[in-house]
Amino acid sequence: MYNSLFEVNSDVEKCTRCQLCETRRNTVFGEGNSHAKIMLVGEGPGRDEDEMGRPFVGKAGKLLDKMLTSIRFNRDDVYIANILKCRPPGNRDPQPQEVEACIGYLRAQTALIRPHIIVCLGRIASQHILKQDIRITKERGIWREVKGFFIMPTYHPAALLRNQGWKRESYADLLSIRKKYDEFAGTSANSEE
Ligand code: URA
Repeated sequence: MYNSLFEVNSDVEKCTRCQLCETRRNTVFGEGNSHAKIMLVGEGPGRDEDEMGRPFVGKAGKLLDKMLTSIRFNRDDVYIANILKCRPPGNRDPQPQEVEACIGYLRAQTALIRPHIIVCLGRIASQHILKQDIRITKERGIWREVKGFFIMPTYHPAALLRNQGWKRESYADLLSIRKKYDEFAGTSANSEE
């Protein structure tokens, strides 16, 4: 049981629970508002993130920033983390034993931040958070309520960079996230109708 994100990060920084500790340059714990109502979860650090020790700072991160801006959020409004805290070499998919070794840190982060909304960026994050196989093209945009969290899978920004055709659906998901957030905050435009 952890009492603070600081404590969790201290363990992450010295973690040797899987082989990724041998090849990482830096751990990437996560960052943002520790009281955020929205948590965004990606897959794991890429090269830029491994170098900087911060999540989503490369090309996909720049797009993520734009996505957030499009629904009037910035990084200080949300918390951003990953399933894995260390980079898989060559950006390969995480292996099951790596996820098993690491996911407790994400659970601890979630328990401390207690967001209302969890947005799973891409198939890997969705599959491990929802504990089921997900076809992102079919299941994106669908909310599930699990243990008091509202969880939505959506496209990973790196996938959007490869497939421009998904942008419209991604924007629909973003609007849905904003709407859900506003419902919690009681400031939805609808609430004034
Ligand atoms: N992709 C991810 O899934 N996470 C990052 O932090 C960066 C790229």
